Amino acid sequence: MGRVLILYYSKDGNTRKMAEYVAEGAAEITGIDVVLKSISEATREDVYWCDGIALGSPTHLGTVAADMKKFWEDLLPDWQKIDGKIGCAFSSEGGWGGGAELTCQTLLTIMMNFGFLVFGLTDYSARQFTAHYGATLAGEPRSEREIESCRRIGRRLSEWVAVYFDGRHEAHPLKATYIREF
Ligand SMILES: Cc1cc2nc3c(=O)[nH]c(=O)nc-3n(C[C@H](O)[C@H](O)[C@H](O)COP(=O)(O)O)c2cc1C
Repeated sequence: MGRVLILYYSKDGNTRKMAEYVAEGAAEITGIDVVLKSISEATREDVYWCDGIALGSPTHLGTVAADMKKFWEDLLPDWQKIDGKIGCAFSSEGGWGGGAELTCQTLLTIMMNFGFLVFGLTDYSARQFTAHYGATLAGEPRSEREIESCRRIGRRLSEWVAVYFDGRHEAHPLKATYIREF
């Protein structure tokens, strides 16, 4: 059974709300065990346990929040125990254009240092609204397209875990029957 961890830091609650929708999306794939934890609740055992992580941070000064970076810096002695897991990112920013995509890229970069196989979405959750570098939005998720963007990145993570860890080729997104482009 594939194992997915939604791991986030949230100072004021917006990224936590995103994380909850990401977890909902991850749970759309049957047979995947989904766990939602903040970095203050999670331990290194949670990171070892999972096959894939959706990693979320608010955008702080155009990049990842310091607490999130510290979580991974503290894991560094064990970096070679983590190779080969699947990773994706999400971020809440204060305003559109505030750097959330840069934060996602940094989250992906952090995971690459641990040997994660990272991905973005080719999907659109609505017209002109995609998540190529991860799910990004300003403030908390409110509109359907923002919520769907969070759900979609979580769903895709579970799909990739199902395909690559459980050998469930029917879960491959190219076989998906839901709408992937608007
Ligand atoms: C220290 C700090 C730095 C921030 N820097 C940025 C920034 O560079 N760009 C931006 O759009 N918002 C910035 N914000 C706003 C947060 O990204 C935004 O409020 C986000 O929704 C907070 O997520 P949270 O509720 O999960 O903490 C900053 C907030 C703080 C506290």
